[in-house]
Parts: sequence; C-alpha cells; structure tokens
Amino acid sequence: MGRKLLTEHINVEGIQSFEVYRKMGGYQAVEKALKTMSPDAVTEEVKKSGLRGRGGAGFPAGMKWGFLAKPEGVPRYLVCNADESEPGTFKDRYLMQHIPHALIEGMIVSSFALGAKSSYIYVRGEMLYVIQILEKAIEEAKNAGFLGKNILGTGYDLELYVHAGGGAYICGEETALLESLEGKRGNPRNKPPFPAVKGLYGCPTVVNNVETISAVTWIVNNGGEEYAKIGIGKSTGTKLISACGHLKRPGVYEIELGVSVEEFIYGDDYCRGIRDGHKLKAVIAGGSSVPILPANLILKTVNGENRLMSYESLADGGFATGTMLGSGGFIAMDETTCIVKNTLTLARFYHHESCGQCSPCREGTGWMARVLERIEHGKGNMHDIDLLVDVAKKIEGRTICPLGDAAAWPVAAAIRHFRHEFEWHILNPTEATQKGAVYQGELVMA
Ligand SMILES: Cc1cc2nc3c(=O)[nH]c(=O)nc-3n(C[C@H](O)[C@H](O)[C@H](O)COP(=O)(O)O)c2cc1C
Repeated sequence: MGRKLLTEHINVEGIQSFEVYRKMGGYQAVEKALKTMSPDAVTEEVKKSGLRGRGGAGFPAGMKWGFLAKPEGVPRYLVCNADESEPGTFKDRYLMQHIPHALIEGMIVSSFALGAKSSYIYVRGEMLYVIQILEKAIEEAKNAGFLGKNILGTGYDLELYVHAGGGAYICGEETALLESLEGKRGNPRNKPPFPAVKGLYGCPTVVNNVETISAVTWIVNNGGEEYAKIGIGKSTGTKLISACGHLKRPGVYEIELGVSVEEFIYGDDYCRGIRDGHKLKAVIAGGSSVPILPANLILKTVNGENRLMSYESLADGGFATGTMLGSGGFIAMDETTCIVKNTLTLARFYHHESCGQCSPCREGTGWMARVLERIEHGKGNMHDIDLLVDVAKKIEGRTICPLGDAAAWPVAAAIRHFRHEFEWHILNPTEATQKGAVYQGELVMA
C-alpha cells in the first residue's frame, strides 16, 4: 500500500469539520506559507515537486504558475476547476465531499503564492451537496481567521467564493469555465491569450484542478523535493484514481504513481480483480476521452514491459498502442461489454456536449454518433468503419478547444483495437442486434 498524501485522514470521524481537520494537523501549511515564506518561495516548492495538473493534461503546475503575468495594479485570480464532468471520473467530488478543508487549505496557500485576493471554486452545478459542504467549510475557516481580511495577522487578505457551474461538460474546459464564471454561455475562448495573461475578467488567472490544488498543502508542509521522491520519473507524487466498471472493488484510490496496472486491477490493496467468473476485456484508463486499450495492451507495453500507472508508461507506444493517464477515471470492462455499443454511448455524449462553436466538432460528433447508431442497429455497411475513422481524423486538432479531440480519440481507438467487433456487427446484423449480444470471436483478453 502506497503513501497517502491527500486521503490519509479521509476516514477520520468528523474530518469534514474545521475542528477535526485542524486537530489532524490541518492549516499548518497556511501558517507556514503566510508566516515564514514568500509567495515566490511557495511557487518554487511547487516547481521542485514536479506536480503535474491532475485535471487531465498533466501540465506542470509550477511552470503554469510561473507564466502568470503580474502587471501592477491589476488583480490576479486563482480558479479551481471542480467541474468534474468527464465520464468515469469522480475523484474530485470524493475529496471535496469527505475532506473539504483539504481543498480550502490548498486554495489559501496557492492563492497566496499567486498573489490572488479573490479566488473561486467552480463546482459542477448538479453537485449541490458538494457546494453546500464547501460553503460551510469556508465559513468555518473564515471564523477561525484563515480567510478574509488580514489572515493570521500577516496582512494577506483572501476571499474565497464557490460558484455553481452551468452543468455542461464543456464548462470544465478552462476558458469555457471562465466565460461561465463571468456569467456568459460556456463557450471556449481562442488561445492565445492564455488565462495566465488574460483570464477571468480579462485579468491574469491560474486555473487548476481540485486535486492539483489540494496537493500543494502537502508540498508546502514537506517541501517540493520530498514530494518529487514519491512516484516515478516525471510522474511525481500520488494520484487519485476513480475506478469503476466490472471490478470487484470499484472506488477512489490514492495511488503512488508508478504502481503497475496489473497490481492496480488485481491487487488486494486496490480493485481486487474482475468480478467473479469474468475476464478483463478492455480498459479506458483516464476518463472517457482517452483511447480505450484491450486487456493485453493495458497490462503490458508492446515491448513486453509491465504497464505502470504513470503519465509516461500509459502513453508508451503513442496512440498506436498506448493511452493516457488523463483525469484518472479508470473504467474496466469484461467480456460482456459490447465495444460498438460502448463507443456509441460515448459518441452520443460528446455530440450532446459539443458547444457548437466549431463546425468540425459540432457536425463531426453528430456524424459519428449517427454512423455508430446505424452499425449498432444492424444497418451499417463496411464503408462506415472507414468513414468513422475519416470523420474522427477531420475533427482532431481542428477545433478551438480539445473537446473535439476528446470526441475523436475514443472512436478512433475503438476501431483501431476492436475493428473485428464493428465488422461482426455489420456482417451479422440479426445476431448483433439481439438484446445483450456481444461479439464472441477471438479476443485478446487477460
Ligand atoms: C471538454 C473539457 C472538459 C474538461 N473538464 C475538466 C474538469 O471537469 N476538471 C478539470 O480539472 N479539468 C478539466 N478539463 C481540463 C481543463 O481545461 C484544464 O486543463 C484544467 O482545469 C487545468 O488544471 P490542472 O493543470 O490542474 O490539471 C477539461 C478540458 C476539456 C477540453
């Protein structure tokens, strides 16, 4: 069992409250940062830690903070991305629901480092219970002098606001989020300018994920170098993985980056294997946007090495044979899963969630959903498979924001690795359209 930096105290009774969180050592990072460190020194520790953004892209947090423009007399903002709408991802809400002060503390030290005096937590609107928990935690922290004017007598002022999001997947994209936070429709902005230069209300802004910001607390308490010792290579620290699907023990796990995928799926400390009597068929390792991999490729790279839960190892082989750690939404599927149906479900989702600004995404996601629909319902032809690949290629890289890529990759990867299933659907329409029908031919399974 690896070290727990974020969730060590998550099962302590009453940890939701300020009192218990404080008793367990909470808010020491605020005292340390505000009383003994300069804002730049905090940023330096984050740089040293090698912490990478946990929202999906894995961009180094310290480097992002370093890009923040600091013009005189202009406010700067820290915005926490707590939209968490990526299918299969449910780690941020777990953290916020069970140990809300971990995020509040991270927000305070991070805002201090960035020189922000007003910071926002943008929570997906449907997660009303999380919003209420966070608002209570903010009130408690404020009453204890950790928020508001002149925090701990240091002269630093910070107001923290929770904002109920628009309830759309696109609002998780950082610039759409900023538009939504400003009260507008959540349409992504063209970049550049990046938020670090022109973000919320046109001012320099850092947008970071809940988990990224929460990790800063441990880094301030223990130092960036200590953090960098955990994990593997450039995948430092721990990562929350929300595991779901046909696993014996689904749930949220804090893992040290570098544990093998095999250990994560089958190990006693983690998911304990695939449900009885079934075998692993495929995994979507990092939220629904990342390429699906068949069992053999998720467990081992093409060079026969054990695949590890790290940014680099999961990406080994590029998209030909690899995938991405993404947001850590780990979806395991056994042999009862129909890949065509699964791909259709995802395609429908992306079509529904496309904001419609860019025609390749607006039109292409609809085309992919419609073509998949006819294959799934026994009305496809062999040309449709290549048509899907073609449409996916024409979306990828041609949109303002990466939602287009996120829609294209799952379709392209499903065909890359499970083409025979699509062909089977087309060639055996009567059989394939029976309720619960799944391709029974030869599969590469663990
Ligand atoms: C369509 C779309 C949805 C996204 N949803 C989320 C989300 O729910 N939460 C999140 O942290 N990042 C999400 N992102 C990534 C953000 O744009 C951004 O990269 C992230 O918040 C940066 O934080 P990090 O550097 O700490 O990872 C999404 C990106 C896209 C393209």
